[in-house]
Parts: sequence; C-alpha cells; structure tokens
Amino acid sequence: MIEIIIQISYLVATALFILSLKFMNKPHTARMGVFFGVGGMTAAVVGTLLNPHIVGYEWIVVGLVIGTIIGVPLSWVPLTAVPQRTALSHAFGGLAAGLVGVAKYYLWLEEGALTQFRTGAIVLEILLGFLTFTGSLMAAGKLQEIIPTRPITYKGQNLINLALLSIAIIIGVYLVIHPEASFLFPALIVLSLLFGVLLIIPIGGADMPTVIALLNSYAGLAAVAMGFVLENKLLIAAGALDGSSGLILSIIMCRAMNRSFANVLFGAFGQLQTSAGTAEQRTVKSATAEDAAQIMENANSVVIIPGYGMAVAQAQHRVRDLYEHLTKRGVDVKFAIHPVAGRMPGHMNVLLAEAEIPYDRLIEMDDINPEMSEVDVALVIGANDVVNPAARHDKGSPIYGMPIIDADKAKTVLANKRSMNAGFAGIENELYYAQNTLMVFGDAKSTIGEMVKYFAGESGM
Ligand code: TAP
Repeated sequence: MIEIIIQISYLVATALFILSLKFMNKPHTARMGVFFGVGGMTAAVVGTLLNPHIVGYEWIVVGLVIGTIIGVPLSWVPLTAVPQRTALSHAFGGLAAGLVGVAKYYLWLEEGALTQFRTGAIVLEILLGFLTFTGSLMAAGKLQEIIPTRPITYKGQNLINLALLSIAIIIGVYLVIHPEASFLFPALIVLSLLFGVLLIIPIGGADMPTVIALLNSYAGLAAVAMGFVLENKLLIAAGALDGSSGLILSIIMCRAMNRSFANVLFGAFGQLQTSAGTAEQRTVKSATAEDAAQIMENANSVVIIPGYGMAVAQAQHRVRDLYEHLTKRGVDVKFAIHPVAGRMPGHMNVLLAEAEIPYDRLIEMDDINPEMSEVDVALVIGANDVVNPAARHDKGSPIYGMPIIDADKAKTVLANKRSMNAGFAGIENELYYAQNTLMVFGDAKSTIGEMVKYFAGESGM
C-alpha cells in the first residue's frame, strides 16, 4: 500500500514539474509556475520520506537543518546576483549526485553487487556530477568577481582539456568493463573535478549565464544517472526535464548572441581588446536630465531601452513614473527588450513587471528594430553591449554578430549611465560618440528621478 502511495506522489510531482515549466513560459503565469514547482518538490520529498527502506531519520534531519541554514540566506540575494546563486544551486546538485555515486559504488563493491549497467550509471553520475560541482563553483566565483572574470587562457588549452576528458572517459569505460577495478575510481573523481575547473576558466564572465544554463543541463543529466543508480523513476523524469530545459535555455541564449556552443565554450570571449579605435580621441556630447526631459516632452515617440545599469540602480519604479508622465502628455512610449539585457534571461521583463509597466508596452528586439528609424527618441538606461552598433559591422569586435537593439537609428539617442566605462563585454561603445547621441551621466535611479521631477514640476504649474 505504502509503495502505491509513494508512486502516486512521484507521479503527482512529475505532473506538477511539467506544469510548472509550462506556466513559466509566460510572464503573467510565471508566479503560478513557481507554486507548481514548489508543490511538485513537496510531493517528491514527502513520497521519498515515506520510503520503508529508510534506515533512520536522524541524518535526514541533520541534512534538512544544514540545507535550511544554507538555503534561506541564499534566497535573500538581490535579483542581480541570481545567476551566481543559481550556479551555487547547480554546484550543490552536482555534488549530491557525485556523492551518491561514490557511496553506491563502494557499497555495491562490498556487496559484490556491481553490475556493468550499475557501474555505467555511476560513472556517468560521477563525471557529470563532479564536473558540474566544480564548474558551477567557478562560474559563481566569476560572476561574483571572487575570481578573475576575464578568460584565463594558455597555449594548447583546448588540447589539454580534451586529453583530460578523454582519459576520464577511457577510465570510465574500463570501469564499466571491470567494475571491481576500484583503484581507478578515485582517479575518475579527481579528473571530473579538475575538468569542471579547466572547462570554465577560459570562459569570460559575459558568457557565464549561458554556461550556467549548460551546467544546469549537466546537473539534470547527473540526476538522470542518479535515478538509474537509485532505481528512482522520479529522479529520472525530473532530471530529464531539468537537463532538457537547461539545454533549450542555453540554445536560446546562444541564438540571442549569435554565438555557437563551441564559441561560448572555447571562444575566450571577453578578453581585453586592443582595438585601434580605442586610442582615438573622440568627444561626446552630454545633456542634463532636464534637457533630456524637454527633448522627450517634444517627441511623438520614445523607446526606452533598459539594461543591466537599470537593474543595479533599481530604477524601474522611476522608469514607470517617467512612462506615466510621458504617456499622459500623449507621447507613445515603448520598451525595447533585448533577450540578454542584464545578467539573466528575462531580467528586464521581471523588473518592468515588478514596476507594473503594462506588458503590452514591452516589445521584443526583433519586433522593435524595424520601427527604430521612425522613433524620435531612444532613451538608453544602463544598457551598453546590447546597443553597441559595433556588433553589426566591426568584425574584430568580440560582440560581432550579436543581434542588438538599433538604438542608433533613432532620431535622437539619450544614453544614461554613470561614466564612459565599458559594459560587461569590456569594450567601448561607438553609440556614445554618434552625432545623434547625448549622454546623460548619472546613476539611473537619480537621473530618471530628476526627469520625473521635471515633469511633476511642470504639471504642478
Ligand atoms: P552591460 O553591457 O553590462 O552595460 C551596463 C552598463 O550599465 C554599464 O556600461 C554601466 O556603465 C551602466 N551602469 C552600471 N550601473 C549603473 C547605474 N547605477 N546607473 C546607470 N548606469 C549604470 O549591460 P547590457 O547592455 O544590459 O548587456 C548585458 C551584457 O551581459 C551583454 O554583454 C550580454 O551578452 C551579457 N550576457 C547577458 C546574459 C543575460 S541572460 N542577460 C547572458 C549572457 C551574457 P557605467 O559604469 O558607466 O555606469
């Protein structure tokens, strides 16, 4: 009877996970998606705790307490730190899979129960689990800037990585053929851990969100392998969902940047550029927030292009106020959303939705670009790489080929940021030097706030 209840709870959990992913597809149902996900996980945990094979609950309670102590503070991180937080979760997932693999290998070795199938599943679990563990830790470290975000490269790097992976695979295959060759097992663990580190160090910080999505799919595949080891159907189903959604997300992100997987993994994107253009003395024109407000007041159409800077400054509520003032004055205001603006997929959508900006005002890059040459004002708020025209024509630029929002095509560009510093890709932006661009220097929250004050003062007159 208890076995039936467990299987039903696993079935319910799987259905809830699938529905959760479905609801996550649309911003207005995403919150419900989270609740379904939590519901699915609860059903999975309850079902697992009912398992009659559990020998004692003491260690489970210890794990629960440690997990809660680590997990609760992790949920307090600001939205801008979510990518590194996600990477940490994958690291823990990978570690858990790897440790279960180690425990099961030695247990079955002692019991003489190591079949070739079981060893094969364990080998995959170890390889994927441990490489996800160290790879995700490195990714989190790069995003948090604890370790250098620039790609660390050396001669013959790809060859060394390939050789390392090949040795690990050869050891894995040998172990499947001779499961009792336990002297090789620690070598497989060490190589997997090392490979995770070496895989990530040549990748620049700007590519980390894509790599994290890829590591997400590795963690999912490690869970699938763990499901085969533990003969747990729920782990197989949940791991497969995790693995495929991570892969799909990384494909979407690669497409948005016009990059291939190979280019992300081996392209050393984000290295210091020594472009001739940067040495040139070029001048920029600047304007005050009040000047900018006056220009927008006289415009028929304004397209706001938010980026990472708006997220850091938490300027979204001021942006909503600005949107309202302009709309009240009959200006047509739209928001242009670049798929990789900010630091995580959907970053801008989440912030603007939080500020209650009507969803139909948010226009995807491909839909807004054909209109950009008709637009009076493009107001760029803390966006840099995603509006850099070099991506369209400068073959030497690391972002060449990445689709951008064509802000430069608008009649006037107002670009708000604090300085002339580079964006995440570490390169200059020619948009700021263009004839039709006016820089509005300052923190996004206070600068947009000043624009709002201008309009509020005006309407009070
Ligand atoms: P970035 O190119 O990173 O530029 C952000 C700009 O915001 C900076 O140049 C910075 O200039 C400015 N800024 C920072 N704090 C500010 C503040 N308080 N007020 C006003 N401005 C501020 O951002 P983006 O255009 O959104 O591009 C995102 C980058 O991340 C791209 O390179 C993209 O490929 C990469 N990436 C993103 C993702 C996802 S999923 N979003 C995935 C992979 C890669 P100042 O310092 O001068 O203020």
